[in-house]
Amino acid sequence: MTRMRWLFAAVLALLCLAAVGAGQRWLKIASDNLHDPKSPAVGVLQEPAEALSLLAPDTAGNQVRWMRALDEGQIQPRTNIMPETKVNLRTTDVLLKNTGEMHLVRFPHRQHTAWLDCSNCHDQLFQQKAGATTINMMMILAGEKCGLCHGAVAFPLTECGRCHSVERNSPEHLAFGKGLVRDGGGR
Ligand code: HEC
Ligand code: HEC
Ligand code: HEC
Repeated sequence: MTRMRWLFAAVLALLCLAAVGAGQRWLKIASDNLHDPKSPAVGVLQEPAEALSLLAPDTAGNQVRWMRALDEGQIQPRTNIMPETKVNLRTTDVLLKNTGEMHLVRFPHRQHTAWLDCSNCHDQLFQQKAGATTINMMMILAGEKCGLCHGAVAFPLTECGRCHSVERNSPEHLAFGKGLVRDGGGR
């Protein structure tokens, strides 16, 4: 009980922060509190708004729907700097079912391995076995597991439905059969 109250207090705090953030799109370099406004680089560096306003828009986080920007070819990030680096892709989806009243969580490997290497997550954050790692919303809100990136460098935790995307007994749920893993292919 106290755990749930804690959770909802944290969620509320996050939502308030998001509401404050939503008012502003991209700060100018001279007033972003990251760059020295007196530096000669200000005025030479490209303004974030100039670059980011051309990409698939989002209503959360840094206002870019990065997965769409990548899939639609709006950006083509280099996969490796060293020629010997091996790029590893994976296309399985894992269904995470301990979600209480919320929709189930579909973890998609394709979308993640488009940006990240296996070693960014395995085996420090997650074991390579569906259901073997303890993950819950408290840990995520505290910046662990999925929360290490989501809310930091990937879409924020206020976007519940982007993770909790699979309705119980929907065709998408039933497609997993009895297992927790299926090949999501190119999706
Ligand atoms: C980055 C992905 C992600 C986002 C965003 C997200 N969740 Fe979760 N949530 C999870 C995962 C993963 C689990 C654990 C599932 C498991 O272990 O089977 C979980 C579990 C839960 C649970 C189950 C109880 C518990 O304590 O774990 C609840 C309730 C929940 N989330 C609510 C929310 C709400 C409300 C939001 C939006 C404010 C949200 N989640 C946003 C990934 C996410
Ligand atoms: C962003 C983090 C992340 C990255 C990157 C990642 N994984 Fe995973 N992986 C997960 C999560 C989360 C699970 C599910 C864990 C659970 O259910 O407890 C998982 C599960 C697995 C599983 C068991 C389920 C299945 O798909 O058969 C294997 C095997 C696996 N990963 C291999 C890989 C390999 C190989 C790579 C690189 C090509 C990779 N993973 C990249 C997070 C990641
Ligand atoms: C190591 C960093 C990292 C971890 C850990 C991580 N993610 Fe992500 N995730 C990303 C990045 C980067 C993207 C792509 C950028 C974006 O969509 O904001 C992404 C995108 C996604 C997407 C969106 C796919 C789409 O089609 O738009 C989902 C869903 C998602 N993550 C769920 C999860 C869940 C659930 C977990 C934990 C089980 C998790 N992620 C853990 C970095 C991570």
